[in-house]
Amino acid sequence: MIELRDLTKRYGDKTAVDGLSFTVRPGTVTGFLGPNGAGKSTTMRMVLGLDAPTRGDVRIEGKHYGELKEPLNSIGALLEAKGVHGGRSAYNHLLCMAQSNGIPERRVGEVLEMVGLHDVARKRPKGFSLGMGQRLGIASALLGDPRILMFDEPVNGLDPEGIHWIRTLMQHLAREGRTVFVSSHLMSEMAQTAEHLIVIGQGKLLADTSMSQFIAENSRTHVRVRTPEPQRLLDVLTTEGLRPAAGAQGALEVDGGDAARIGELAAAHRIVLHELSPQRASLEEAFMRLTAQSVEYHGHAPGGVQAPPEGAQVAPGAPQPPPEGPQAPPGGTQAPPGAPQAPPPGGQQAPPPGDPQGPPPEGPGWGEDWQRRRRR
Ligand SMILES: Nc1ncnc2c1ncn2[C@@H]1O[C@H](COP(=O)(O)OP(=O)(O)OP(=O)(O)O)[C@@H](O)[C@H]1O
Ligand SMILES: [Mg+2]
Repeated sequence: MIELRDLTKRYGDKTAVDGLSFTVRPGTVTGFLGPNGAGKSTTMRMVLGLDAPTRGDVRIEGKHYGELKEPLNSIGALLEAKGVHGGRSAYNHLLCMAQSNGIPERRVGEVLEMVGLHDVARKRPKGFSLGMGQRLGIASALLGDPRILMFDEPVNGLDPEGIHWIRTLMQHLAREGRTVFVSSHLMSEMAQTAEHLIVIGQGKLLADTSMSQFIAENSRTHVRVRTPEPQRLLDVLTTEGLRPAAGAQGALEVDGGDAARIGELAAAHRIVLHELSPQRASLEEAFMRLTAQSVEYHGHAPGGVQAPPEGAQVAPGAPQPPPEGPQAPPGGTQAPPGAPQAPPPGGQQAPPPGDPQGPPPEGPGWGEDWQRRRRR
C-alpha cells in the first residue's frame, strides 16, 4: 500500500504536485494518468524519497522510503530506464543492486530470464535499444520480489510482444496481492491493464475511481439505432420522451438511451431495426474530457489550429470545433476477455489478436486525428 497525504512539491514558483491525497491499494493494477507535466513522475520520485516533499507525506506500508531496511524487497520501481551505468554489463548492474539489498545472486538470472534479456546479460546497457533499456529497468524493479511495484511509463519503447508481456505481468502481480502503480499515456493499453485509476492535472487530484466508473462518469453513452424507417422511429422515441438525434450514415443516436426499451418500443410499433447497439466512449475520450482544462502543452496540426477537447476554454476569436458528432467506436474500452495469464519465463507470448496499442493523444498531428474522429 502506498499512502499519500497532502503531498505537495514546489520548484520555485511552480507547484508540480499540489496537495495530493490518495491510497494505492494491493490486489489491483492502479493506473496513474495525467497530461504532460501533470506531476506524475514528481509524485513517484517523492514515493521513493528521490525528491523531498515541500509539504505533506508519503508512506510505503506505513513507512517512509528512507526507513525501509532493504528497500528493493519492499518496493521495486522503474522511473527512468536510462538511469543505469552504461559501461557495466546488465548482469553486473543487477548484481550490484542485489548485493546491496541482501538478494541472492541467482535472482539476477531469474529476472533477466523473466524480461527476456538473458542472451544479452553480459552486454553493456549503453548499447541497448530503448525497449531493451525498459526491460532492464523492469528487471531491477522485480529483483527483490517486492510487494509493491511502481512503473513510470513502462511500455515506452516496448514492442507489441513486450507490451502484451508487461500487461499480463502487471495483472499477474496484482492478482498475487501486490500493489501495482503504473503511469502511461497509452490510453487503450491502460484501459486493458488497470482496474483503478488515479488521474491528476496540474498537480491536483482529478479522479480516484474504478476504470468503469471513470469512463461512465466522464463520457457520453448513447444507443445507435438503424432502421429503414428512421422518421417513424424518431417520432415514436420522441413521443416516449427519449432524445433521438440524427447520427452518421443514417443512424439515429439516443443519448443515455436504454437499448432494451428502444427495442421494445420499435417492436410495439412494428418498426424493423437493422442495428441496436449501446455505445460507450473510450478511456481516451473520457480522459481528454476530464483533463481538458488541465492540459498545459498543446500541439498544433501543421497548417491549422486544432480543436480543443470538449470543455476546454476557447479563446475569443479562435476557430470553433466542429459540431458535436457521434463518438466512440463500439467496444473501445472493454476489459480483455478472459483472465490474464501468468507470464512464462522469458515472456514468450504471442501478442493478442488486434493488439490495441493506440497512438498517444499528444504529439504532432493529434489535433487532426481528433477532429476527424469527432466529425465521424
Ligand atoms: N527537478 C525539477 N526542477 C524544476 N521543475 C521540475 C522538476 N521536475 C519536474 N518539474 C516540473 O514539475 C512539473 C511536473 O513534472 P513531471 O515530470 O512530474 O510531470 P509528468 O506528469 O511526469 O509529465 P510527463 O507525462 O510529461 O512525464 C513540470 O512542470 C515540470 O517542468
Ligand atoms: Mg513523467
